[in-house]
Amino acid sequence: FAERTPLIAGNWKMNLDHLQAIALVQKLSWSLKDARHDYTDVEVAVFPPFTDLRSVQTLLTADKLPIALGAQDLSPEAAGAFTGDISAAMLAKLEVHYALVGHSERRQGHGESDELIGAKAAAASNAGLVPMICVGETAADLEEHGPAAIPLAQMQAAVSALPEGAEFVIAYEPVWAIGSGQAASAEQAEAVAAALREALRDTVGDERAAATRILYGGSVASQNIAGFMAQPNVDGALVGGASLKSEEFSRIIQFR
Ligand code: G3P
Repeated sequence: FAERTPLIAGNWKMNLDHLQAIALVQKLSWSLKDARHDYTDVEVAVFPPFTDLRSVQTLLTADKLPIALGAQDLSPEAAGAFTGDISAAMLAKLEVHYALVGHSERRQGHGESDELIGAKAAAASNAGLVPMICVGETAADLEEHGPAAIPLAQMQAAVSALPEGAEFVIAYEPVWAIGSGQAASAEQAEAVAAALREALRDTVGDERAAATRILYGGSVASQNIAGFMAQPNVDGALVGGASLKSEEFSRIIQFR
């Protein structure tokens, strides 16, 4: 398969105010420095809440830290009368590189449809951001349809809304594994990631499919990361709870 730089991303969800955010990134960078991590073979990204983005961006720039910034959500609209929303252009101006779309907490908690998620992915892409498209089945879906059907349908809906040639990342997060302490096995993650990559070959072509990073998310911790990273189609992790602890996230980043 094509060379894909592993990506370890931390989704902070609705945690940490801007001062706590700065403290966490500082501790993380010290910990990686102590471990002589050189950031060349693993890409690191953090997805703080909107209110922390400016502070974290300022710190990353000032300290020249090669940690990419991501947003947890965005509006599908470009600008205008959309109270409470944040546009892709606003995020791009803050040097945000990634935008999460389709996280199960948005699909379930905010009733986001595949159509809306596709529109958000397209808006991100059109503003020069890289959409990180989250897909995953619930425990009930798993029982009814098996592991791959729902993630495949969710992925196709979002990817087909993207402009041709757009770069994107897929995060496979089984809903039953999120925050539960019950991660999927590395083999389960690999089986779905392989099915997703195979489907991508038809949708975006062999080259883009081979270059696209597919991450696993759901109760990732320093104890299980190596197993996921050893799988040929798993190219990284989207980490929730464990990304809020600098030492633990640092160990996950140094999975090798
Ligand atoms: O987006 C990451 C997430 O949903 C996984 O959360 O806490 O299970 O690592 P957690």
